[in-house]
Amino acid sequence: MSEEDRRSGMTRELEPHSIHLRKLTKVFDGLTAVSNLDMSISKGTLYGLIGPNGSGKTTTIKMLVGLLKATSGEATILGEKVPIKKNIARISYMPQETAVYSELTVHENLEMFAGLYSMDKESFARRESELLSMTDLDERKDSLVSQLSGGMRHRTSLACSLIHDPEIMFLDEPTVGVDPELRVGFWKYFSDLKANGKTIIITTHYMDEASRCDIVGMMRMGRLIAEGTPKELLKSSNTPDLESAFLAFAKRTGP
Ligand SMILES: Nc1ncnc2c1ncn2[C@@H]1O[C@H](COP(=O)(O)OP(=O)(O)O)[C@@H](O)[C@H]1O
Ligand SMILES: [Mg+2]
Repeated sequence: MSEEDRRSGMTRELEPHSIHLRKLTKVFDGLTAVSNLDMSISKGTLYGLIGPNGSGKTTTIKMLVGLLKATSGEATILGEKVPIKKNIARISYMPQETAVYSELTVHENLEMFAGLYSMDKESFARRESELLSMTDLDERKDSLVSQLSGGMRHRTSLACSLIHDPEIMFLDEPTVGVDPELRVGFWKYFSDLKANGKTIIITTHYMDEASRCDIVGMMRMGRLIAEGTPKELLKSSNTPDLESAFLAFAKRTGP
């Protein structure tokens, strides 16, 4: 598919299991945090949203998961207009700020999140053990979250957001504060999820992580300044790495 097709979303418009944004915009008291965002993400894509602090990544995700109302434009997820209701249990959201109950244990947190989705005991047990192992929290299963380090809490939050086996995951900086070895494990897990047809939208500051995504969307000052496979982005910017590519696209789009 050409980059133009991808940007216009024409080819992907017909796919039901995807995310589509049309001129999605958010203005906070005169500040345009997200400006006319057009994007199409098809099922089974690992999509990396990158850009400096304040470029609008979190605001975009919050509009998609229904936590913020768009000022204008629209988006659909799984064919349903955002904020989605019918398909809400098919998506998940891991916020940038860790969102877990510190007075509960890791296990109790997972159980509580599973309860929100009425998971049966068997699927819960299977999923819990898979996620505890992925996040390297097996041995902390019965620890109170208040007694865990910041990184462990963040991992607990990731596990909680994935407990119900969602089809589409919005993960806002899930690897911040995660040590390099475990980050590799996370990415292996994300690839496995993707191989099973899951769609993952992830924000990251780490360029090595961005290069592991199928499609990278580069955001700057609320706008999508470039989008494509890492290879396409390097080629069209004629740069050796994504960081230089970002700077090249930023220069092209001006202040
Ligand atoms: N609730 C809010 N009220 C006012 N401004 C906000 C709010 N949330 C975010 N912003 C502003 O919107 C811009 C984009 O922020 P954000 O989406 O958090 O960026 P990123 O996730 O890329 O760091 C920033 O200038 C930020 O200060
Ligand atoms: Mg953010």
